Amino acid sequence: MQLPRPLRGGVRKVLGLLCCVALVYFMVQALASSGDAEKSGARMVASELKAVTGPDKKVYEYGREMPLIFIGGVPRSGTTLMRAMLDAHPDVRCGQETRVIPRLLQLRFHWLKSEKESMRLEQAGITNDVLNAAIAAFTLEIIAKHGEPAPRLCNKDPLLIKMGSYVIDLFPNAKFIFMVRDGRATAHSIITRKVTITGFDLTSYRQCLKKWNSAVEAMNTQCRDMGAGKCLRVPYEQLVLHPKEWMGKVLKFLDIPWNESVLHHEDFINNGISLSKVERSSDQVIKPVNLEALTKWVGNIPDDVVRDMADIAPMLSVLGYDPYANPPNYGKPDAQVALKTKDIQKNKGVWDKKAKEMFSLGWDNGGDTALDKDPSDNANLT
Ligand SMILES: *[C@@H]1O[C@H](CO)[C@@H](O)[C@H](O)[C@H]1NC(C)=O
Repeated sequence: MQLPRPLRGGVRKVLGLLCCVALVYFMVQALASSGDAEKSGARMVASELKAVTGPDKKVYEYGREMPLIFIGGVPRSGTTLMRAMLDAHPDVRCGQETRVIPRLLQLRFHWLKSEKESMRLEQAGITNDVLNAAIAAFTLEIIAKHGEPAPRLCNKDPLLIKMGSYVIDLFPNAKFIFMVRDGRATAHSIITRKVTITGFDLTSYRQCLKKWNSAVEAMNTQCRDMGAGKCLRVPYEQLVLHPKEWMGKVLKFLDIPWNESVLHHEDFINNGISLSKVERSSDQVIKPVNLEALTKWVGNIPDDVVRDMADIAPMLSVLGYDPYANPPNYGKPDAQVALKTKDIQKNKGVWDKKAKEMFSLGWDNGGDTALDKDPSDNANLT
């Protein structure tokens, strides 16, 4: 059927119009659905960013992209001093050792130990991404909520650095401070303070130094693998002799503005710095930075161990400590540090009393609990 010309033109117009409408319709649909995808994506991201409200009513968000700070090292190497000094900074909160974070990460290594089990998990949909998201969420909840909120959160579970590369996989913007100390001083401290660490035989300097050597070697490898932008090695002796210089380096490395308060951490105990009554180093960090712990080990290590030192602990030389010097010359302290050390020695009684009052639970009656012997204290954890 032929339509009159003007009408045919009308049909063409209507068809054209329909086409346009259809085109617009599909475009809107496409845009809307892409908008939906964006929205649901946004929702995923939003749910990954959690928040806590501080006493100041400020909202602090936390998530995997945040620049977390981790402090690691062999126990008795100044990790508590470092975290107390950082805790004194108004922007940073570290807090006590959480203990559960290294244990969870260690579990993950057990889960993936056998190839067969890894395959089973993969087949069950528990991919690395799924597992990492869950482990990161647990870790973040603990770090964010076991203390006050702060712009920069920090964790000090000393042995966690043995899994440093994995921690960086979880938190790509995290950084590590790696505390190292003369192994002879560390061994002496572990033995005399009876710090139970799985694998360390508290009756033998030779054995403890060997354990120190393998632990610090593994940590040093992790630190090197993470790279200079992610892991900063801080020698305890230098931190104590030159706190201003070294805290300057540390804060710069962490992109945190300088604040004098890091040089007076003793003024912030229980007022910005929470201490555990059962951590062994708590009674020492109530004092200002001082030189007392540098050379206590001299004269206390058996002669045969002193003679074989370079073989027992080759990492001493690697880290810049002369294995044949007893003690090595660590350097000359800043005037302020020397002054404070003299003052502490003069008022020994006052400090001892203060420590007793603060830590009435004591370490001698119940400090050595079964918890201290938990596998998470195992310096060999990989
Ligand atoms: C340093 O920290 C204190 C609190 O610990 C704060 O009152 C002060 O404003 C800070 N100074 C600078 C320069 O940020």
